[in-house]
Amino acid sequence: MKVVVGGGSGFVGRTLTQLLSSRGHEVTVISRQPGPGRITWDELSSKGLPPCDGAVNLAGENVLNPLRWWNEEYKKDLFSSRIDTTRTLVEAIAAAEKPPQSWVLVTGVGYYKPSQTAEYTEMSEGGDFDMLSRLVTEWETAGRLPGDKATDTRQVVVRAGAVLGKDGGAIQQMIWPFWLGLGGTLGSGCQPFPWIHVADVAGIITHALESGTGVVSGVLNGVAPADDTNATFTRALGSALRRPTLFPVPAFVVNTLLGRERAVILLQGQRVIPKRTLESGYVFKYPDLQSALKNIVS
Ligand SMILES: NC(=O)c1ccc[n+]([C@@H]2O[C@H](COP(=O)([O-])OP(=O)(O)OC[C@H]3O[C@@H](n4cnc5c(N)ncnc54)[C@H](OP(=O)(O)O)[C@@H]3O)[C@@H](O)[C@H]2O)c1
Repeated sequence: MKVVVGGGSGFVGRTLTQLLSSRGHEVTVISRQPGPGRITWDELSSKGLPPCDGAVNLAGENVLNPLRWWNEEYKKDLFSSRIDTTRTLVEAIAAAEKPPQSWVLVTGVGYYKPSQTAEYTEMSEGGDFDMLSRLVTEWETAGRLPGDKATDTRQVVVRAGAVLGKDGGAIQQMIWPFWLGLGGTLGSGCQPFPWIHVADVAGIITHALESGTGVVSGVLNGVAPADDTNATFTRALGSALRRPTLFPVPAFVVNTLLGRERAVILLQGQRVIPKRTLESGYVFKYPDLQSALKNIVS
């Protein structure tokens, strides 16, 4: 199978590319930078979609970029990097002479309203209560193929939780404080922490691309079938690294460092169930934190 992956140079994209290649598929990355095995977004707009069987979009400015201050310019980049790339790819799919059989967009669980008690499946409502949820709604709307094209191409949206892996994402930003023995719960620590191992995000995308017509379509929650809180995650990471986790970080510190609107990602959370993902036949490689963290810190 030939697969085109927007943002395939990033943290999830590198694991996805490896997995697809190991299964005999050929990957072309869409990037802002030209290079071997890549096309640029401008080339996609001007020359159209290269012949392919599947398309994926993973492009987007990092929401937890520690080097960027939370301001209007950053928020604009978060929206445009996701929505403009998604729209460009959808336009190219819609205009393709031979459209791909599948189109997979990865968004986020920020779609669901943070709550310590509510449980969310793919059928739950959300998407219109704060900035991040509205970002996901606009992003998924941009990802919808026009009606007459939707029958040619199977559409899948993977709403991912915090992606855990060795060389990127949340763990990369947390590992040093934990190594230094300065790791601790964030805020109350009671907030749910929906997470997924990077191998499983890549696995779900591959499962969606490889599944036959009609087997996998619509929204799939990209979270492990676990029920962890920030406190259980903090203890598990400390234990995997054999480091103490004695220093809780008060909510006001996280709010000040990240800005209140994005601190929500760490200080509040959602209990998300991968109901349709499991029903679609996907088997998680890392269904619990212990196995995921053992792999990551090994
Ligand atoms: N990592 C997580 O914990 C997590 C959780 C939930 C959802 N997601 C979503 O999953 C997707 C993949 O995540 P990831 O962690 O792999 O992302 P990432 O590594 O931070 O970024 C993926 C790629 O996006 C492109 N990109 C970055 N800034 C951009 C900008 N301003 N304009 C256009 N393209 C830009 C870059 O590709 P080039 O430099 O090659 O252009 C980058 O390699 C993202 O859409 C993210 O929102 C991630």
